[in-house]
Amino acid sequence: MAHIIYLVGFMGAGKTTLAKQVAAEYGYHCVDTDTVIEQKQGNTIAEIFDTLGEEKFRQIEAETIRKIDLSQNTIISTGGGLPCFHNNMEWMNKNGITVYLKHSVEGLKKRLENEQETRPVLKNNKNLTLLSHIEGLMRHRSPYYEQAKFVISSSLISPQTIINTTIKQC
Ligand code: S3P
Repeated sequence: MAHIIYLVGFMGAGKTTLAKQVAAEYGYHCVDTDTVIEQKQGNTIAEIFDTLGEEKFRQIEAETIRKIDLSQNTIISTGGGLPCFHNNMEWMNKNGITVYLKHSVEGLKKRLENEQETRPVLKNNKNLTLLSHIEGLMRHRSPYYEQAKFVISSSLISPQTIINTTIKQC
């Protein structure tokens, strides 16, 4: 059976970078749900949020994750909100190994400081500081992320270790 790994976690956690590293090192197929959505819709994620709204985006995400070809070894980098809607976390846990790249709220703030304008989910709430906005989202999201099979504090463990541990478990 093919090895399927889903990387989950907040925006800026490094999911896409890690997915590319794994794919290059182990010859896995690499899929990024945001990229698949942008290619299919012919628009950027920010444009999709602006024109269709978040609810529609979440529907498209749920369809996208369910349509990925799972017949070959694949590592999938998922959008930061994807695990928290439409039972996607449950679905991923049934279909592969989930890995949560966990960062502290402060660490995420540092990683996202210059991206507030380009990230649709962070752009909306101008009267909140970036830190309190991340805190609010994390309160809602971490119960979903924590359902991952592996929870990795990415600041403490190297990507290489994550990859090796995960692949051994497949
Ligand atoms: C989102 C995260 C983004 C993208 C969209 C919404 C979120 O993905 O799917 O902007 O709700 O956290 P990344 O985590 O890959 O940046």
